[in-house]
Amino acid sequence: MSKKRVVGIYGSPRPGGNSDALLDAALEGARSGGARVDGIYVRDLKMEGCRECGKCDRTGKCVVKDEMQKVYPLLLKASAVFLGSPVFFYGFPAGLKALIDRAQALWVRKNLARGREPGATKAKMKNSDLNTPSPQLLAPSSKTGYLLAVGATRGKNLFSGMERTARYFFDTLGFSYEGGVMIREAEDKDAVKKSPAWLDQAFQLGKRAAMGKEKVKSESSKGEAGRPGSWDTR
Ligand SMILES: Cc1cc2nc3c(=O)[nH]c(=O)nc-3n(C[C@H](O)[C@H](O)[C@H](O)COP(=O)(O)O)c2cc1C
Repeated sequence: MSKKRVVGIYGSPRPGGNSDALLDAALEGARSGGARVDGIYVRDLKMEGCRECGKCDRTGKCVVKDEMQKVYPLLLKASAVFLGSPVFFYGFPAGLKALIDRAQALWVRKNLARGREPGATKAKMKNSDLNTPSPQLLAPSSKTGYLLAVGATRGKNLFSGMERTARYFFDTLGFSYEGGVMIREAEDKDAVKKSPAWLDQAFQLGKRAAMGKEKVKSESSKGEAGRPGSWDTR
């Protein structure tokens, strides 16, 4: 059996912070489960967001020649993807959201492969246009996506928006969204590193992801290190 390929997308602009620590642990777990692991550091990518130019409508390929072009093949080959991210205004930070938005080309590709016309154009799929591997976007999903998210507050709906976006992103990739580890009340840069229990949750999840599809319950924790104050509970 070929090795699982697990991709971790580091979404925080802050190196070595809370979501980085969680994702490091998850990828370590995936490695220990025998997976080949790739990390994508969004903060280091020279890339822009979706231009909504519509040029992918016929081909499912993005025409913007920047470092997102290195990300597409990793996403297409992955058997599991972890999004690691802080909560920014109840959503993903701009850089990671830009990467997610650039999956629009894959969304189009999936619809073309299904024979559906994109809403705005009358484009039809041509096989020659689709020389990139689109079948995996349609295959029955044994591929899994996870969210590792950290916020400073403890509002009930702190992760709802991110989970919805993550689910739609993973659906576009042909992955099923399997939940993840979501930590409340962690603001200081080392809050997560100080909590072996959180790191272990992420590690175990990575290990399970490397071994194949497994449903996990979203883990949602209240951080001992958190302190109300600089962020109101929203
Ligand atoms: C621009 C910005 C927006 C933020 N918005 C929220 C928010 O809406 N809710 C929240 O609970 N925390 C918010 N935070 C706090 C971070 O989510 C929190 O500090 C987190 O631990 C940072 O994770 P990181 O170290 O992985 O970057 C925000 C922080 C920044 C810098």
